[in-house]
Amino acid sequence: MRSRVLSGMRPTGALHLGHYHGALKNWVALQDQHDCFYFVADWHALTTDYQNPGQIEASVYEMVIDWLAAGIDPDKATLFIQSRLPEHAELFTLLAMSTPLSWLERVPSYKDQMGRLADRELGTYGFLGYPLLQAADILIYKASYVPVGEDQAPHVEITREVARRFNHLYPRGDKPVMTEPATLLTQTARLPGLDGQKMSKSYGNTIAMREEPAMVEQKIRRMPTDPQRVRRSDPGEPERCPVWQFHQLYSDEATQAWAAQGCRSAGIGCLDCKQPVIAAVLREQQPWRERAEAYLANPKQIQWIVEIGTERARTVAKQTMKEVRDAMGLAY
Ligand code: TRP
Ligand code: SF4
Repeated sequence: MRSRVLSGMRPTGALHLGHYHGALKNWVALQDQHDCFYFVADWHALTTDYQNPGQIEASVYEMVIDWLAAGIDPDKATLFIQSRLPEHAELFTLLAMSTPLSWLERVPSYKDQMGRLADRELGTYGFLGYPLLQAADILIYKASYVPVGEDQAPHVEITREVARRFNHLYPRGDKPVMTEPATLLTQTARLPGLDGQKMSKSYGNTIAMREEPAMVEQKIRRMPTDPQRVRRSDPGEPERCPVWQFHQLYSDEATQAWAAQGCRSAGIGCLDCKQPVIAAVLREQQPWRERAEAYLANPKQIQWIVEIGTERARTVAKQTMKEVRDAMGLAY
């Protein structure tokens, strides 16, 4: 039997190239070898955006379209929406009874994010508890592998501890209820944002997966370059330039050599240098646009895909919850 993979993504707006290269591309690759469950983590988005849920609502199906556009195949992967499965909340509640507060307080992203999102009130119970909700998401499907970026790895680690503790507290003769998942660390994307910082909507430095071609061109043409290359006649240094990082992801060796050499010798201008990057990004996006168009022409189909995925997930989640209640002595 194929081993199960589970991952989720928050619906917080149009997915961008950072999401694709940092996660989605890997999701697509995994679907051929594994039994992949991918879900819209709308409750997770609420932990930070509860004051502003409108954006979540607007993003749920758009995100599923981005997934399908990227090449997620609904015949191979199971796609669903977290909030349609109250079983996640039930497991979260039951796990909460035995999870020490200190496990949650020491998750690095907790203090980190509190600091970064200082404008929101994150002293909430939901925000502290969200790694445990994530543990419930993973354990309810008995996932063997969880593909995540580095920032999420501590959450998978907590999940393993939670699983061990559950199996210890509530042993079952033959086979423990909980499966300890392994982290499948996704190579963090080498792709930065347009300004060289991490690509993130909050920095306003993204290119959306389905960005208009004219906009893509304009955004790349306006990208800052080596700050020391002020005039066309000044030689530059690619290592100081975010466009170079795009070349490293998108260009073949010959093009990279042309760009680096032309930059250092002032043989080419920055707009010349950006041209192959623009072409490569547009080329990459073309199949995404085509697939998305087909789905957008038929919104019912997307709803069906999610409907079927949700019911498939529900079968698994229900079975696990039955085992959980049995093991905990709640089957009265
Ligand atoms: N917490 C993840 C994020 O913010 C999303 C997520 C929720 C997730 N549950 C998950 C990822 C389970 C992997 C497995 O990006
Ligand atoms: Fe950057 Fe290319 Fe300009 Fe050099 S020539 S500074 S690598 S855009």
